[in-house]
Amino acid sequence: MWRATTVQVCGLWPFAAGSGAPMTGVPLGQHLYTGATVCGDPLSWFTRARYISNPSLFMLGMPGLGKSTLVNRMLIGLCATGVVPLVLGDLKPDYADTVRALGGQVIVIGRGVGGINVLDPGAMGLAAKVIGGEAGKALESEAHGRVLNMVAALVTIVRGRPMDDHEQSVLSAALHEVRLRAEGRPPLLPDLLRVIAEGPERVRAVTLDRGDDARYREAVDPLHRSLLGILDGPLGSTFASETSTRIDLNAPAVCIDISRIGEADTQLTAAAMLAAWSDGLGTVAASHAMADAGRAPRRWFFTVLDELWRPLRAATGIVDRIDALTRLNRSLGLGDAKITHTLKDAEALGSDSDRAKARGFVERAGMVVCAGLPRAEMEDLRKVIGLSESEIELVSSWSSPPGWGSVREREEPPGRGHFLIKVGGRPGIPIRVAITRAEAELHNTNARWRETERPAEHNWTKGMWA
Ligand SMILES: Nc1ncnc2c1ncn2[C@@H]1O[C@H](COP(=O)(O)OP(=O)(O)O)[C@@H](O)[C@H]1O
Ligand SMILES: [Mg+2]
Repeated sequence: MWRATTVQVCGLWPFAAGSGAPMTGVPLGQHLYTGATVCGDPLSWFTRARYISNPSLFMLGMPGLGKSTLVNRMLIGLCATGVVPLVLGDLKPDYADTVRALGGQVIVIGRGVGGINVLDPGAMGLAAKVIGGEAGKALESEAHGRVLNMVAALVTIVRGRPMDDHEQSVLSAALHEVRLRAEGRPPLLPDLLRVIAEGPERVRAVTLDRGDDARYREAVDPLHRSLLGILDGPLGSTFASETSTRIDLNAPAVCIDISRIGEADTQLTAAAMLAAWSDGLGTVAASHAMADAGRAPRRWFFTVLDELWRPLRAATGIVDRIDALTRLNRSLGLGDAKITHTLKDAEALGSDSDRAKARGFVERAGMVVCAGLPRAEMEDLRKVIGLSESEIELVSSWSSPPGWGSVREREEPPGRGHFLIKVGGRPGIPIRVAITRAEAELHNTNARWRETERPAEHNWTKGMWA
């Protein structure tokens, strides 16, 4: 069976019966049983098809089964329709090559290669100035909230637990003060530390110091210490100086590449991911504010948060920060894809409320896509999204390991490129994704293992590598 659009096959009368597979959005693959083309992405299914009430996608599945590859395809398809993909924290990197090929901007963050100034209101600050008036003021206070959320996230990461409420008010007051003093240039973390050390009236007032310096110090010392810990610790060099490259509001796609940060560096990884999200989502808010004010064309965005489990693990309380960052998406004209391995990532979190919130990411997602997952985990997932016995059977069969194969014909994992798409209580759509050569080259996570590049062999008699 062949399929084409009526533009390509304009003379053909479509007497054929419909297959029932969704045809709106990025072409993803073929229906596993009928062979019909299946199209879909969270933005098109929210806006044009109205299948989902929330333009978000949550993808689960074991490593190596093609999750990032499928999201790369959505990125390419959506970019072609004018949507701007934003990959906020690419860990492998899985998306940098695609974004480069789309003519987009790739920003590298890591020790010694590039940093983000977390106190910089970024694009939102600039847009607030351009827009001015009431709308500008509203944007400015939203920018303040984002900066506050981000500094609180850094403190949460260095402490390994959330900040207290009263510290948050101290931090908020200090951030207001530091912005007044900065006079136009973006303030830096050391400026914030100076303000807290000095203790101006505005900051003292929220500590209830009643004119007593000892009481003030007592109230701010833990925060002061944590901020010093950020500055002098492993996060300092990346977040305490000026932003090395700002996100370009006019780029057709943006990728913040944080793959230079070592895998073992959990704190820096989590902090970099959060900073990238905060900066990226701020850019989206700025773009919409500019469009509302008639200063720029309206643009839609698609953000990708891959390997979600990494920041979740970094510290208790991070879930809240992610929640705060991503809750507003629908009002922001923003589709998003969150990708992780299993629901167990949520179960591993410290507190009940953290676990509930992490499960909420899946519950709130309009579209849930499963690659191969072990049976036990499908049973857990069933409690959240509702799955039939045969759907569970199918998806768990994709999690079996490949056979041993012979040396030449390497066997692929049987579940690679197979996905089940679930929307609300509807029966799932099982698909098979075949990648094109261009896609395979753009996204080869095994690039360092290529066979044509034989590894050097050690010559033991000469004592050297050849
Ligand atoms: N549909 C597919 N067909 C063939 N190979 C694929 C397919 N999807 C992914 N791959 C290959 O499998 C490897 C792992 O894919 P990746 O998307 O990184 O998996 P995940 O994100 O689930 O860990 C990559 O080298 C990719 O090129
Ligand atoms: Mg991946």
